[in-house]
Amino acid sequence: MALRIAFVAAECEPWAKTGGLADVVDALARALGQVGGGEIETPVDVFLPRYRAVDVPPDRIIGEQVVQVLGPGAERGLAAVRIIDIAAGGYRLRLVDHPAAFDRATYYGEGSTDYPDNAWRFGLFCRAALAAMTAERRLPDVLHLHDWHAAPMVRYTERGPAGPAVLLTLHNLAYHGWTPRAATTGLGPEWTGRLRPADVGIDLLRAGIIEADLVNTVSPGFAREALGPKFGMGLDDALRARGGSFIGILNGLDTELWDPATDAAIARPYGAADRSGKAVCRSDLLGRLGFDRADPGPLLGMIGRLDPQKGFDLLAEAAPDLLADGFRLVVQGSGPAELVEPLRALAEAHPRRVALIDRFDRELARRIYAGADGFLMPSRFEPCGTGQMIALRYGTPPIVHATGGLADTVVDEHDHPGTGTGFAFRHPTATGLRWACREFATRFGAGGPAWEALLDRSMAVDFDWRTGSAPAYIEAYRRAIELRRAGRRAVGTSAKRL
Ligand code: GLC
Repeated sequence: MALRIAFVAAECEPWAKTGGLADVVDALARALGQVGGGEIETPVDVFLPRYRAVDVPPDRIIGEQVVQVLGPGAERGLAAVRIIDIAAGGYRLRLVDHPAAFDRATYYGEGSTDYPDNAWRFGLFCRAALAAMTAERRLPDVLHLHDWHAAPMVRYTERGPAGPAVLLTLHNLAYHGWTPRAATTGLGPEWTGRLRPADVGIDLLRAGIIEADLVNTVSPGFAREALGPKFGMGLDDALRARGGSFIGILNGLDTELWDPATDAAIARPYGAADRSGKAVCRSDLLGRLGFDRADPGPLLGMIGRLDPQKGFDLLAEAAPDLLADGFRLVVQGSGPAELVEPLRALAEAHPRRVALIDRFDRELARRIYAGADGFLMPSRFEPCGTGQMIALRYGTPPIVHATGGLADTVVDEHDHPGTGTGFAFRHPTATGLRWACREFATRFGAGGPAWEALLDRSMAVDFDWRTGSAPAYIEAYRRAIELRRAGRRAVGTSAKRL
């Protein structure tokens, strides 16, 4: 029988997005509906909070109901939550609408401070999603939870073989949904976790890791790294305790959404067989940035959340040397002032060689992927990463820190001459970054058939969700069901060891 799947997630492109989580939720939900064999019942459901910024198009509403749920905070009593179903093109989006929880300026908090009641907000989100599922005739076979926001679900679903199987996907271990005990969450002591020995509070992600039937992260490389203290972010013990029920599944890429041959935002479409359009895109981008079109120096692009994870500070540190080497830089990203300011200062000092776009601009991002010569991802850690996959597809070789999903997706031309697809450095330092940029510049400057061959290899990498990643998730769903039936929870091995 076809599997019925429900996603529970805090982001979904294009409705709500701060990072790669949104892209993956949208693309995987659609891809699951497309992989052949009728293994997955369609449409897949995707539960998402209805934030203030989510516009609900009236003509796409296909259902609406109100569920009554006990707010996780007993002191808040019974809450009425509206569920608005939308035909989202490939899946059914189920918006969980409760203004007290989600009608706020941002999704998670202000500046870098989380809302103090996040555990309550997302606890309510999960309860309401479960109530909406229960109101339908059949519960999903698998609840696919994404990151800490959906983790409270593990405490609300029925335990034992009769309940839906639970797969928890870890997109980012840096955010736990951490609430100090002092904060009023209304959640019971069973939620208590330990981030550091002296720091006791509520750690939603830890609870999810302990109790889900199967846990995965978004690349095999990061799945290995997360088992150690350096990348485990305080959760490595819980992940090690999962043994074989913690796995890595590499993200895919939505190859229809990201295709230089059909991209309407770029100056001229191009494909692997004829890259002449890419030169037009480059010239267009240089013009828009106010850079000198005649300057042959390589143009490097970087796009992302300005988060310490992403290594923008490494770029700021390496920039003077890179400029001396003849590089030009275009950076798109917004974030806290301490990360933006050094880049702004660089852009102001070198207006014709460094550009900072400190906002999220979808069209300009596409023009950067297409028009830049190389694409930077010096992330300190990276569970998978999306930018490098897009850059490969657009024939813009990535320059990456060899970590997590970046190491899994980019083959370093220095280590593997003649078979590489980009450039990778081992140590996340300004020196490492500059070294890899020079490796890039040597080959870019030489041009010719060797460079064209590298671009051919980069554009040929197949990240289509439907090829590998979506089928891998279907296999994971089956495994989660088996584990649930085998009563892993009842045995509770990992819980006991913790
Ligand atoms: C998070 C991770 C990123 C991953 C994305 C989608 O944003 O930091 O590496 O690609 O989730 O899974």
